[in-house]
Amino acid sequence: MIYFDQAASSFPKPASVANAMAEAVNEYAANPGRGGHALATRASQMIESTRELLKAFFHAPSKRHVWFYQNATMALNQALLGFPFQEGDHVVSTSFEHNSVRRPLEQLRQRQGIEISYVEPNSTGLIEVEAIEKAFKRNTRLLVVSHGSNVTGAFVDIERIGKIAKTKKVPFLLDASQTAGKLRIEMDHANISMLAFAGHKGLLGPQGTGALIVAEDFQLKPLVYGGTGSYSELIDQPSQWPDRYESGTLNTPGIAGLNAGIKYIVERGIDDIYEHEWQLTKQFLQGLQGMASIKEYGPSLEVKRVGVVSFQMEGLDSHEVATILDEHYQIAVRAGLHCAPLAHDTLQTSETGLVRVSFGPYNTAEEVDTLLTALGEIEQAFY
Ligand SMILES: Cc1ncc(COP(=O)(O)O)c(C=O)c1O
Repeated sequence: MIYFDQAASSFPKPASVANAMAEAVNEYAANPGRGGHALATRASQMIESTRELLKAFFHAPSKRHVWFYQNATMALNQALLGFPFQEGDHVVSTSFEHNSVRRPLEQLRQRQGIEISYVEPNSTGLIEVEAIEKAFKRNTRLLVVSHGSNVTGAFVDIERIGKIAKTKKVPFLLDASQTAGKLRIEMDHANISMLAFAGHKGLLGPQGTGALIVAEDFQLKPLVYGGTGSYSELIDQPSQWPDRYESGTLNTPGIAGLNAGIKYIVERGIDDIYEHEWQLTKQFLQGLQGMASIKEYGPSLEVKRVGVVSFQMEGLDSHEVATILDEHYQIAVRAGLHCAPLAHDTLQTSETGLVRVSFGPYNTAEEVDTLLTALGEIEQAFY
């Protein structure tokens, strides 16, 4: 099987990821932070060392600011539903947001009467910093932007956006689900107030992992209340971080796997991974140019993007193309709306959806050639 659905979950993982998970399950599967014995301490140490790793990787203020969740969606819900909005507050966002941003925002519109502006991309498919700046109002309380689109691969300039947020004194929440582990993200340099991401995509960890990193105290309400293994005598959630925002037993084996995934990225080099995926993306885009039935929807070939390419084959439903690739060629891609219906509205592809191909650090040029050959054959068969 050739796996080109890396934007959904990365596969394969470095061997060290499964090894670290097996070690956690087989050697120290005790409850972290819930006991003073040696095995619980070992589990806690793994979690704390992963916090430290993430703190250094994303330039967070301290490991206390790193909170673990089961995916990016939970992390984004904590940031958005926990944010102390007042009725009439305004949020600036973009039409490229995943449903994990859009749906909580729409809930807040219904429940708390917030107002939302979704900034549209320009004619070349890029969200312009100037358009974001223009969308601010006197009552804007939060800026939430997806770093890289999971439909087109286009990414925004976070340093320039962070500067605007800082000038306007509005917190900046970045959804880095498509870019963490692929593009450098430094919270301090880019003035990122809150950073949410999945552990199972570019960071090469297992499913069931994600995190929110919060640069300062925005008085977030916890999303979940319960046991923290600390201050058990209190009726209320403890005020200490990360305990306040991490009720319930953490996913120690998953976090151990995430730890190994991040170490692989650091060792190989994030720039090397990006460059590898960019070369595959360019190779694929160049190959598509010779196919008359294919329309591609991302930025032009000269503009760098993350390794995501979405296209339509004239006269064929996106699901049909994905099924043929899966069943006849054993190539995994993703069809449909990719949980980003606003992006498809903007691209005018909501009816048919798109076929999405996404690349990872272990994909090869030969695999891209195989996909191009398969698409050429499908084109010949149908046109
Ligand atoms: C841009 C973006 N945000 C958020 C998510 C949600 O990630 P998860 O499924 O880990 O919650 C995804 C997943 O595809 C995504 O692409």
